Amino acid sequence: MQNINSYLNDNKDRFINELIDLLKIPSISADSAYKNDVLKTAEAIKKSLEKAGCTTVEICNTAGHPIVYGEKLIDANLPTILVYGHYDVQPADPIELWDSAPFEPVIKTTDKHPEGAIFARGASDDKGQMYMHVKALEYMTTTNQLPCNVKFMIEGEEEVGSPNLSVFVKNNKEKLRNDIILISDTGMISKDNPSITTGLRGLSYVEVEVTGPNRDLHSGLYGGAVANPINILAEMITSLHDENNHITIPGFYDKVEELSISEREEMAKAPFNLEHYKNVLDIDAVYGETGYSTNERTSIRPTLDVNGIWGGYTGEGAKTVIASKAFAKISMRLVPHQDWKEITKLFKTHFETIAPKGVKVKVTPHHGGQGYVTPINSIGYTAASKAYQHTFGKTPIPQRSGGSIPIVSLFEQELKSKTILMGFGLDSDAIHSPNEHFGIWNFLKGIETIPYFYKNFAELSK
Ligand code: BES
Ligand code: MN
Ligand code: MN
Repeated sequence: MQNINSYLNDNKDRFINELIDLLKIPSISADSAYKNDVLKTAEAIKKSLEKAGCTTVEICNTAGHPIVYGEKLIDANLPTILVYGHYDVQPADPIELWDSAPFEPVIKTTDKHPEGAIFARGASDDKGQMYMHVKALEYMTTTNQLPCNVKFMIEGEEEVGSPNLSVFVKNNKEKLRNDIILISDTGMISKDNPSITTGLRGLSYVEVEVTGPNRDLHSGLYGGAVANPINILAEMITSLHDENNHITIPGFYDKVEELSISEREEMAKAPFNLEHYKNVLDIDAVYGETGYSTNERTSIRPTLDVNGIWGGYTGEGAKTVIASKAFAKISMRLVPHQDWKEITKLFKTHFETIAPKGVKVKVTPHHGGQGYVTPINSIGYTAASKAYQHTFGKTPIPQRSGGSIPIVSLFEQELKSKTILMGFGLDSDAIHSPNEHFGIWNFLKGIETIPYFYKNFAELSK
């Protein structure tokens, strides 16, 4: 029976080329101009799952972009793994900051990736990581080593908050029934410090609009006498943090889970170099909530950030004007026990309350989701940990991530199953940014490690 390393040796060039083909299709879910490309990508995923040995594969239409579902069920007495991933990607802009075109993948070497990395939108988030699972399945089916049942659910709307996946999950509980959910859509500490993501933050995303006078005004004739919505919005946003970078919304921290000193000490053992962190970002200091380390600020603590702010004149030259309206998009990252709907309400009430006379304020919620933490004393975690031990020669470190995959908590709620997050990306992959890339080493390491998870999980489930 061929082992995974020799299978990888024989097939890795083909695997890389297949991924490159997938990355060429601009499956931007947020932009309706790309609707056809999103569909084309779903069809390509369907074909790849068929080729990898799934017996049933279907494209499931939703009110938005379709979900690709595939399965290979070998024995009802064996456990079932449900693989989730997403084939949609973030918009590529600002496009002028890319060194090569976002949908014309190229392989280049970097300091972190002497073996080369594929540069393209979606390379790491999440086409590259999702495709590792397709290739791992291909290996297990062609060499007759699939040790359990497997289901694939690959969606096309993750980057826009999975608005239709929840409906699909609620309506297809029997079809999706599983013993564990497996996702590669996160990162690890570094190539020689493997880690398993044990937590994701929740999210509440809102848009705010501040309206002053009913039309744009001459800033000389009216300036100083009417509320300027941009000035006011800036002040309101500033007031959302106090001098300790604590969020000032009443009730915001009420349900935040406080970790014990020993848990925090355990977390602090993860390798982290502050100088390096500052260097790669070209900043002279980190910034954040008083009393917490950088790692804590991005994992166990909730945050509030403006993602975009606009209004008034932003074209060439100067225009003397007081705008009628100002806008901002604001995200709040949440931690376990904070409820995103409740937080959204608290934000709305507070933001409306702090608006001074002379302006009107509108708060529109976009999307959100709950945070997630997974236990490390489960069969699933042990299966993953042993898989990494085998292929990295090291025990992986459990680590909470700052990012969000809101659908994970819904899986737990609706399907009653836990999720194992085996991410193989690096923070330096530049996901959502220009020059996103995924290391070829990481891609192949993922394909190598996944079959051991299957094997260990099947054995531990006996
Ligand atoms: N794969 C990311 C989330 C992620 C990345 C988690 C790295 C942990 C480590 C996912 O595609 C994503 O971008 N999620 C969004 C939320 C979504 C509702 C748009 C996020 O975290 O901003
Ligand atoms: Mn993702
Ligand atoms: Mn993403």
